[in-house]
Amino acid sequence: MTQTPTAATSRPTKTILRALAGERQAVPPVWMMRQAGRYLPEYRATRAQAGDFLSLCYAPELAAEVTLQPIRRYGFDAAILFADILLVPQALGLDLWFAPGEGPRLSTVTSAADLAALKPAAAIHDTLAPVYETVRILSRELPAETTLIGFAGAPWTVATYMVAGRGTPDQGPAHAFKAADRASFTALIDRITEATIDYLSMQVEAGAEVVKLFDSWAGSLTGRDFDDFALAPARRIIAALKARHPGLPVIAFPREAGPRYEGFARAVGADCVALDNSVDPAWAAAQVQRDGCVQGNLDPRHMVTGGAPLVEATRAVVEAFRGGPHIFNLGHGITPDADPENVALMIETIRNG
Ligand code: CP3
Repeated sequence: MTQTPTAATSRPTKTILRALAGERQAVPPVWMMRQAGRYLPEYRATRAQAGDFLSLCYAPELAAEVTLQPIRRYGFDAAILFADILLVPQALGLDLWFAPGEGPRLSTVTSAADLAALKPAAAIHDTLAPVYETVRILSRELPAETTLIGFAGAPWTVATYMVAGRGTPDQGPAHAFKAADRASFTALIDRITEATIDYLSMQVEAGAEVVKLFDSWAGSLTGRDFDDFALAPARRIIAALKARHPGLPVIAFPREAGPRYEGFARAVGADCVALDNSVDPAWAAAQVQRDGCVQGNLDPRHMVTGGAPLVEATRAVVEAFRGGPHIFNLGHGITPDADPENVALMIETIRNG
């Protein structure tokens, strides 16, 4: 494609990067959380070839293959690196395994002594090198118009798994550790923060064009805890990344932050906030999108149920955010019981009305 040598050439050409730069587009770019996942038969086949989920994360050719599958099938505007937020705790020295049908399991960090036994942040690259190789393969193989997103878990969310050793409905063990020994808990958050800066920085050096910070359990923090453990670490990570990689766009996802979505992007220095599907789009358009790009926020259940309600809800999300920069996405990851045809219908509705 030829371009005229005007000021326009200094603006990004990829749709996702344009949205992140604050540009409103008539058709919003679209990608989906967990777009490489069990709802796709080709993903299940490649996972079987790898043996299990973690082996897939650490096999660069296969991890790149599953990242590319939804791009080939649907032509999403962005690809997200295939990996997991729990690789960082593993790289810090915890045992990690996935019990079939039960989700993740880890050895735990519940005391200052456990914390002292963790590896230093600088040691994570021994374990995580294959992830950087996946990013390098993807930056070679993705179509020219597709943006490559790297990611990590935000420190609070990662800590909830490290303290409990598993997913929990209320993050009770992490809240208990925080209440019993705030200094040690803060030191744990700091260690994860340092590791996350180095991890994301390496992803960017390998070719990630955007990074996203997943704080899936931000909604269980309130008041000063939200300031100390959701805002402050995100601010520190984003400032360090932007100092090392000037102009790097960052998406923050403080899931279920409710009213604390307001001002979040400004407070942490993010270019975009991802909205979960409990957020009212009209409220977010008025209170959150005025600060810049928003991402979201169709209820992922529509990918299971489909039909006219899916079309209507998709149109409603597009309509609500039409006035400013918007990246269309679900409010959380697509689930294994979703119908791949419904994803196609969603994309068709976004692009053709
Ligand atoms: O979005 C993508 O497609 C990129 C890859 C990605 C995965 N996990 C792959 C995955 C990303 C960005 C994540 C993030 C992640 N992982 C989060 C934050 C986002 C969120 O969903 O809130 C969390 C909390 C995790 C931890 C995790 N990983 C859990 C709780 C589980 C089990 C739940 C489940 O769906 O089984 C995983 C496993 C996981 N991570 C799968 C995938 C595709 C399913 C594993 C499989 O193939 O069996």
